[in-house]
Amino acid sequence: MTVSTPDRRDSGNAETRSSSLDDRNVVLTVTGSIAAYKSCHLVRDLVRAGCRVQVVMTESAAEFVGPLTFAALSGRPVLTGLFSDVPPGSPVHLQPVEWGDVLVTAPATANYIGKLAGGLADDLATTIAQAFDKPILIAPAMNPRMWKNRAVQRNVDLLKERGVNFMGPVEGAMAGMDEQPGVGRMAEPHLIFDRIEELLSDPTWRGKRVVVTSGPTREPFDPVRFIGNRSSGRMGDAVARQARLKGADVILVRGRGAAGAPPESVGLVEVETAREMSAAVKEHFDRCDLLVMTAAVADWTVKKPSRSKLKKRDGAPVLTLERTEDILAWACRNRKKQALIGFALETEKHLEEAKRKLVDKDVDLIALNDPTKADSSFGGDSTRLTLLTRDEKVIELPLLTKHAAARRLLDAVEPYLPKS
Ligand SMILES: Cc1cc2nc3c(=O)[nH]c(=O)nc-3n(C[C@H](O)[C@H](O)[C@H](O)COP(=O)(O)O)c2cc1C
Repeated sequence: MTVSTPDRRDSGNAETRSSSLDDRNVVLTVTGSIAAYKSCHLVRDLVRAGCRVQVVMTESAAEFVGPLTFAALSGRPVLTGLFSDVPPGSPVHLQPVEWGDVLVTAPATANYIGKLAGGLADDLATTIAQAFDKPILIAPAMNPRMWKNRAVQRNVDLLKERGVNFMGPVEGAMAGMDEQPGVGRMAEPHLIFDRIEELLSDPTWRGKRVVVTSGPTREPFDPVRFIGNRSSGRMGDAVARQARLKGADVILVRGRGAAGAPPESVGLVEVETAREMSAAVKEHFDRCDLLVMTAAVADWTVKKPSRSKLKKRDGAPVLTLERTEDILAWACRNRKKQALIGFALETEKHLEEAKRKLVDKDVDLIALNDPTKADSSFGGDSTRLTLLTRDEKVIELPLLTKHAAARRLLDAVEPYLPKS
């Protein structure tokens, strides 16, 4: 059975493409588990990131989610039948094998895993998998008792030995109302998405060390209160993740007030104040090739924070502030080979101020963020950056997701990295 809708890519308002996924072909196999509905989100996110997604469904999977849903989300016909989808004279079962850059099976049933381990190919999904010679990622989903079954575990081990990547299952509530919680739940779609991005990335920065700062700092004026700022840390986190996808070893120095979970596979140093952030950067600076100062570091700190909680009845406190250390200026003075990126957030005379910072601080690249632009949201998921380089290039990026902007930023700084 083939269900068609017009080919389209949904990129929302912001351009969401990140170069490791843009223009790549993902074959997504869906098998017969209740978790099949979660893969709808995965398809949507992949398409938004610029991928083409070819969904393949087993007969059982089509009992859980209609192929029409996947066809609408992917903008491509869904393949289900080994024989029914074959146009005359065309070996359709091998087309996704040639076409796909990666094969992802999510959710994967015990039955599918068993067939793959045993070398069986009695439907389109398993036939494609047996012939697929590029990266394969399997996200199993099943009842915890099934997952514990020794035959299932042996099949998983066999496939791992053959180089197949597995993600999950994880512990948690099962999709079925009457199922006991345990290990068997499919990994969350955004984590599967991240893993696909890793499998498709081109690690040209392998061996490079990158230090990224991210999030706000907090300057306490008593043990429970502080002066902070609105930074969410999303931009810094995106820079760290994209540097990691480029293959670099990344240290992320992250303010505790940053929103959400930090990216995986980076060395995380959590800090509170500007002073702590400065100390962490200094500790890792000597060995790094690139420092990206994305964090919104407080310019002032409270001179003498109170040791005890200030009382309302004592009236409004008068706080005396003093300058914090300019970490980027310190890095400029102490650099040997390191490339440096600074961020500028200016509300007036944006370009002039950014150019002044570029020259005064002697950095390789300034990313200018103009919060007065309606669509450049501080704390949101997208941004419109202007990049100014040491060679006086001015690159105006369109409205992009922070991940896509981070990728463009790292591409732009590449000429200034120390040659290894
Ligand atoms: C309501 C329901 C839910 C099911 N959920 C799962 C599941 O999460 N994991 C699994 O391995 N099998 C599950 N099964 C069993 C599979 O659908 C069955 O083994 C089927 O033959 C799998 O076919 P496929 O691997 O070709 O998709 C479920 C069956 C039913 C009726």
